[in-house]
Amino acid sequence: MSATRMEWKPAFEPLAFARQSSTRTAQRPLTLAEIQHGIVEAGKLPLNRATTLPAQAYTSEEFFAWETEHVLRAGWQCVAHVSQIPAAGDFLNLDLLGEPLIVVRGKDEAVRVLSRVCPHRSMDIMPEGFGYEGHTLAEAREGKPDCGQTRLLLCPYHAWTFELDGQLKACPEMQQAENFCRDDFFLKPFRSETWNGFIFVNLDGQSPPLADGLTEMANDLAPFPLDTMKLVIAREWDCPFNWKVLVENFMESYHHLGIHHKSLQPMMPARDTWTERERRHYVRSHLPYKDSVREAYQAFAEKGDFSDDLPPVAGLNDTQKSEWGLFLVHPTFLLATAPDRVIWYRLQPLGPDRLKLVTTTLVPAETAARENFPHLREKALKQLTEFHLEDMEVCTAVQRGFYASGWQPGRLSHLEMPVWLFHRYLAARIQGKWPTDDGDAAAGQRS
Ligand code: FES
Ligand SMILES: [Fe+2]
Repeated sequence: MSATRMEWKPAFEPLAFARQSSTRTAQRPLTLAEIQHGIVEAGKLPLNRATTLPAQAYTSEEFFAWETEHVLRAGWQCVAHVSQIPAAGDFLNLDLLGEPLIVVRGKDEAVRVLSRVCPHRSMDIMPEGFGYEGHTLAEAREGKPDCGQTRLLLCPYHAWTFELDGQLKACPEMQQAENFCRDDFFLKPFRSETWNGFIFVNLDGQSPPLADGLTEMANDLAPFPLDTMKLVIAREWDCPFNWKVLVENFMESYHHLGIHHKSLQPMMPARDTWTERERRHYVRSHLPYKDSVREAYQAFAEKGDFSDDLPPVAGLNDTQKSEWGLFLVHPTFLLATAPDRVIWYRLQPLGPDRLKLVTTTLVPAETAARENFPHLREKALKQLTEFHLEDMEVCTAVQRGFYASGWQPGRLSHLEMPVWLFHRYLAARIQGKWPTDDGDAAAGQRS
């Protein structure tokens, strides 16, 4: 992704704690079955008796290996937005759950997600920093080492070349290899789906089709022109915490009362936030503006002076004009809609206490085309960074808490309904099911 690496210094040294934590934890080690049992039991509790999960669900290597296989690789992971690869030959590289991937738009305009592992001797065809002089056909986008433009894919090791759809085009000096058939060698394609402009990959190829489970959500989001919006900000973060800590943090707004009491709470008070009924594949919450904020925003939108703030997205309904919406498509697609922008978080889990995160902002194409957009972008970047820094601090400290002898199981507020729904999803996956499969969907907090 065209991400700027974010310099971020937490209140304490996360690397030292990670080293310590990987070898020593005050919690009794639990077996995989015990952790799974703890999650399934938590998932049975009603919201008004809901608890946190066992700490080991966030620290165990064994549980991380299980969820990598059965939750993450088995699910749909969002890897890019179409605006990042608009033209044939545009590509974007990322490593996801152990797979070096290239997301590339072919000459036929189709978007594919291919392995970057060369079928000759397993070289990464575009390792980090691939853009060195003379060793690639690809042009890296300036200042963005992980994306660019190319007409063919060239492995820098022995110069095998591939078409943009992964087919082997040429391989020098292979004429003496007996029974060698070029068609047998290609860059492995992964199953992918583009939904509302977001490109998803399903690494194990077995997940139910993505769009089928999101029809209702797509209708709900329809006024946002997601497939033509432009991704204009991408910021990369090295996170010393479990991916589930981030999902839980993103989705619940109870913490507006605490860590965001100066930033988000004055705009969207925690008390007013609410969550819709349970869905099989996603969670949906609403963060209404405080009355005074709603009125001020309405006056701003009517005035039409967008010299210093992003203009509203055209065609939103009254609700969408006066709140933020939060969405989690299980397991890791995190989306926030605001009246003037959409925020998407890309997650690349690396281990029980490691996560690579890219925080992004998308705006309508006409907003991005405004003359004063560079100024508006700077401001949007500052806003995105400021409240995320607050979240980085708490998520980092939460992970440290999981290793401490002072850790104890906690209880959830009704405002943490999205966390409870996420736990119910994990409990369902442990049992090979989906939420709502064999019971009534949990009721929403408002209709
Ligand atoms: S490993 Fe790619 S060409 Fe040899
Ligand atoms: Fe937050």
